[in-house]
Amino acid sequence: MILNPCKRESFMVLPVAFISTISPEGIRNIAPYSCVMPVLRPLDLVCVASAKTRDTLANIRAAGEFVLNFPGTDLADKVIPTARFSPPDADEFELDGLLEKPSVQVKAPGISGCYAWMECRLAKEYEEEQYVLIMGQVVHLEVADAVYLPDGSLDLGKARPLMMTGSNRGMKYCSVRGIDKFDAFASIFPHGKDPLAGKYQE
Ligand SMILES: Cc1cc2nc3c(=O)[nH]c(=O)nc-3n(C[C@H](O)[C@H](O)[C@H](O)COP(=O)(O)O)c2cc1C
Repeated sequence: MILNPCKRESFMVLPVAFISTISPEGIRNIAPYSCVMPVLRPLDLVCVASAKTRDTLANIRAAGEFVLNFPGTDLADKVIPTARFSPPDADEFELDGLLEKPSVQVKAPGISGCYAWMECRLAKEYEEEQYVLIMGQVVHLEVADAVYLPDGSLDLGKARPLMMTGSNRGMKYCSVRGIDKFDAFASIFPHGKDPLAGKYQE
């Protein structure tokens, strides 16, 4: 079946992250974002695509920082309340019944109950007529102990990352599970040595 080119997310499974920000007046804001990707291994950059009409974008530009919060499927009911239009002076933590997880490096608070948090500083932005690409530098990265395995990977069964695919009428929520297959990064390289291996020791 040939699809309309705008229907990319009907088969690209995307993460659902909540971006929390704080306005210059100190108002806390939350919005779900799915157009989120890391920029290359082993960099500390993430790229977020934002429409221009977002309080999130205005707050990121004003404060130069934001938090990407990664929810499990148990927070699926918070997606629409946080996505709905709310006036810029509404505190979305209060409005949507979410609690703060204090941040370490940025003023904007994280969201309690998520399984991972990326505190970011605005590194660069790329603006076009219809969108802005926000490049964030991760300045503090944290994951709940209970969902982190000794090999440095996520326990998918415990975290149950909230994800979605698009359909003609909306978002179909889902999660992911492992397939009991593993490949070492080293296996990509001719001499079986991962040149970036040293970067991953905590
Ligand atoms: C699952 C989901 C994913 C979304 N992803 C994005 C996104 O990547 N970029 C974007 O600009 N808006 C996205 N939106 C829309 C915003 O969350 C929505 O417009 C929200 O009201 C923006 O809030 P704000 O004005 O407080 O920033 C998404 C909405 C949903 C429900």
